[in-house]
Amino acid sequence: MSLLSLSACLAILLLRVTSGYSFEFTLRRKPPGPEPVPRGQPHHIYKANVSADAAWTPCSPGQFPIGHWTSPADRATRTGSQLYGTVLAQRFTWAHQHPQNCSAAKFLLYHPHISGIGSLVHHMGQALSLAIQLNRTMVLAPGPFHVVTYTATDRCGELATLDQCYFEPLSSCTWRDALQDTEEPRCIKSPTMIRDSSARTVCFRGAFWAKDYSFQQVAPQFSALLRASPIRPELYYYWWRAQSAAYIVRPNAATRNEMAARKRRMFGGERIRPGTLSVHVRHGDKGEETELVEDGVYLRVAQELRHAQGNLTLADTERPRQQIFLSTEDPQTVAAFDAQPEWDVQSVSLIRGVPADLTPLEQTPESIQTLMDPYEDMLNSLLSLDLALQCDAFVGTLSSNWCRLIDELRSTVRCKAHVPYMDAQQESPPYDVNW
Ligand SMILES: *[C@@H]1O[C@H](CO)[C@@H](O)[C@H](O)[C@H]1NC(C)=O
Ligand SMILES: *[C@@H]1O[C@H](CO)[C@@H](O)[C@H](O)[C@H]1NC(C)=O
Ligand SMILES: *[C@@H]1O[C@H](CO)[C@@H](O)[C@H](O)[C@H]1NC(C)=O
Ligand SMILES: *[C@@H]1O[C@H](CO)[C@@H](O)[C@H](O)[C@H]1NC(C)=O
Repeated sequence: MSLLSLSACLAILLLRVTSGYSFEFTLRRKPPGPEPVPRGQPHHIYKANVSADAAWTPCSPGQFPIGHWTSPADRATRTGSQLYGTVLAQRFTWAHQHPQNCSAAKFLLYHPHISGIGSLVHHMGQALSLAIQLNRTMVLAPGPFHVVTYTATDRCGELATLDQCYFEPLSSCTWRDALQDTEEPRCIKSPTMIRDSSARTVCFRGAFWAKDYSFQQVAPQFSALLRASPIRPELYYYWWRAQSAAYIVRPNAATRNEMAARKRRMFGGERIRPGTLSVHVRHGDKGEETELVEDGVYLRVAQELRHAQGNLTLADTERPRQQIFLSTEDPQTVAAFDAQPEWDVQSVSLIRGVPADLTPLEQTPESIQTLMDPYEDMLNSLLSLDLALQCDAFVGTLSSNWCRLIDELRSTVRCKAHVPYMDAQQESPPYDVNW
């Protein structure tokens, strides 16, 4: 037994002791067959001096709890790798969110943040970290309580929550359990604001800005696991973003059916071929927050990635070819990519986020609400995400929440933690992975 797997066992034990949940961590035996061979490059959140062996955690999608967004048809599912501790984190989170008795449980009632989908998932993931830290089950508050929250009343019902609308339920309990026999719950911004820790429910709204609670805080239940990992300590939070996204983004059966129908309609009989590069170009409203990267830069970085992979051990099917799957909300970018001769480009045309031509003054919640249909935006975005995740190499800008979502899911449920990622805004490996 290597030192690393020994410390992983230790971490499992520690998780067990500190968690207080009656929850079995026994992992099923791997099916017989040759051990997958480490290949590709260490994930960008790993320490610089990590060995190829330590950077390689074979993917085991069969060990995920119910409903995870794995891709059984994808070759990587059988032979790829995932971020260290993924199965443990998923099973731990699932157990935490499924208490034995919802009448006896304590809750963090979370009102999602008003923002784009990527940011929404990341805030929700941080709320989940806080809930785990507080030994409270996180449940979502119902909508519509804000304007742009993606809960589509006409499709999902008047009191639907975001998870009920699109995803597997985040918990076996609901906001009804949380609000049973309680006064209006007290809303907090950080753990120190809890006056009565015996209160059945505390509430949290939106984003994380408290002085005494870092929005990068990972629940201490994961500390032992992370200390034994090859992950750079300053990026533990990024690991949690990936784990929480993998837990939250589990499209339910209705969503998957709708995505399949859209794929037939919008992507015809096409499929993502092996060796396709995912390029995500974030324009749209993002220019308000960060400097836009021009299309030509993405293409140059894509070319660099194609050359650099000559130095990597990769399976033949993983080798980047001259094929790009482009996801963007900017029609001009689609036109620019289609016009260049170097690459064979596939894309889906998507309405994403806030229209780019709105001035900040025009971007009131009401105008955004009338200009975009949240349900359409969510479904089209999930389709685009699914197609991006079928690619074998990735180019993007980690300053974009959406780009990070692609990176997080490819590194966990899609078994592609080892394939190349290059950033169009910064050196490789990227040092700034945003919040
Ligand atoms: C990697 O570097 C860290 C310091 O950054 C050091 O503590 C550790 O021992 C090194 N590990 C290996 C395998 O060289
Ligand atoms: C669940 O908890 C409630 C409240 O503590 C209790 O009255 C009830 O008996 C419990 N049910 C089960 C099945 O343990
Ligand atoms: C959560 O539960 C653990 C284990 O039972 C305990 O050590 C910890 O203090 C609890 N945390 C809070 C905030 O109640
Ligand atoms: C491959 O690695 C060698 C040695 O580190 C380096 O000099 C070369 O530039 C790399 N090639 C590419 C295309 O990155």
